Amino acid sequence: MYHAKAYSAGSAVAPLARTAIARRDPSAHDVQIEILFCGICHSDLHQVRNEWSGVMPTVYPCVPGHEIVGRVARVGSAVRRFKPGDLAAVGCLVDSDRTCPECQAGLEQFCPQVTLTYNSPDQHLGGVTYGGYSDSIVVDERFVLRLPANLALAGAAPLLCAGITTYSPMRHWGVAPGKKVGVVGLGGLGHMAVKLSHAFGAHTVVFTTSPSKKDDALRLGADEVVLSRDAARMQKHAGSFDFILDAVSADHDIGAYIDLLRRDGNLTLVGAPEKPLSIAAFGLIFGRRSLSGSPIGGLPETQEMLDFCGAHNLTADVEVIPIQKVNEAYARLLQSDVKYRFSIDMASLKAE
Ligand SMILES: NC(=O)c1ccc[n+]([C@@H]2O[C@H](COP(=O)([O-])OP(=O)(O)OC[C@H]3O[C@@H](n4cnc5c(N)ncnc54)[C@H](OP(=O)(O)O)[C@@H]3O)[C@@H](O)[C@H]2O)c1
Ligand SMILES: [Zn+2]
Ligand SMILES: [Zn+2]
Repeated sequence: MYHAKAYSAGSAVAPLARTAIARRDPSAHDVQIEILFCGICHSDLHQVRNEWSGVMPTVYPCVPGHEIVGRVARVGSAVRRFKPGDLAAVGCLVDSDRTCPECQAGLEQFCPQVTLTYNSPDQHLGGVTYGGYSDSIVVDERFVLRLPANLALAGAAPLLCAGITTYSPMRHWGVAPGKKVGVVGLGGLGHMAVKLSHAFGAHTVVFTTSPSKKDDALRLGADEVVLSRDAARMQKHAGSFDFILDAVSADHDIGAYIDLLRRDGNLTLVGAPEKPLSIAAFGLIFGRRSLSGSPIGGLPETQEMLDFCGAHNLTADVEVIPIQKVNEAYARLLQSDVKYRFSIDMASLKAE
């Protein structure tokens, strides 16, 4: 066991603050990674504030962070895919039972015994797992991903959650040339969804509540931008979408988007607001539309997404911050004021 520097929250209302946490020494199959950048996902904020208490109550202290890139520092004796000095990445999952049908299909995100990167029971040290707001992490090599060498590290970190969470449902629902795709909410997930949908060749329409993001949406790859509070503009798109990805973190009217789907169109929720959303039955009945959700992605698809982003030179647009500004960043996240992902430069933690 060794100690790593980290930032943790002591309660749902406490700011994140500097702490030291225990990490296991790498055993035979483990990789110890020196973390260089970690993205800030809105899920970190939901979890730190215990907004998902009904499903995943937060255990304190909580060290969030699941968009991790870094360099391999040490490897266990049986590790074959990584050596010290290699770039490495870790997303939302750090373990699973590896034997269930989901794991065998490479869909570890659905494993009943999945271990999330933070706030999951820690099989090795007891307590719960601690995430990437830290200078170091130890992960089984099976859950460590390879990072394409051409991607800038600060912008690559958010691919590990925002990237895969948007890539996976768009692949599942067949986003491709000739399809009309909507992206609701231009935040961390939403802006990656726009870049990926554009790269897949779909006609991409952004729905935003922020007029100031209009030009950015077009620059990121959108073909059209709709201010979602403009009912008349929304109405022009009624019944026309094949697929809509909803990446909104707060309460909003999803019925307004379901009405924009064509026959057999699908709206997938990736946003996970604190409170239940309400749905009008006829929105789905008329047009045989469907509503679904999607969590992150499995290991093989996450690697596929990273390789796709490498080939297309896609990374997140990031605002790099020192870890000392993390509480300020959370406050801005709540105001939809980030363009478009905060990425923590972990050199700032090392220097503390
Ligand atoms: N399913 C999964 O596996 C998964 C993975 C990661 C994250 N998530 C969830 O996905 C959600 C988005 O995460 P994120 O990191 O992308 O968050 P984010 O960067 O804060 O973006 C959320 C965006 O939602 C829009 N929004 C916020 N409040 C709104 C409101 N009251 N009404 C309408 N629109 C609003 C804003 O976009 P505009 O300014 O453009 O309106 C905002 O930028 C969170 O709930 C997060 O927990 C789920
Ligand atoms: Zn996330
Ligand atoms: Zn499993």
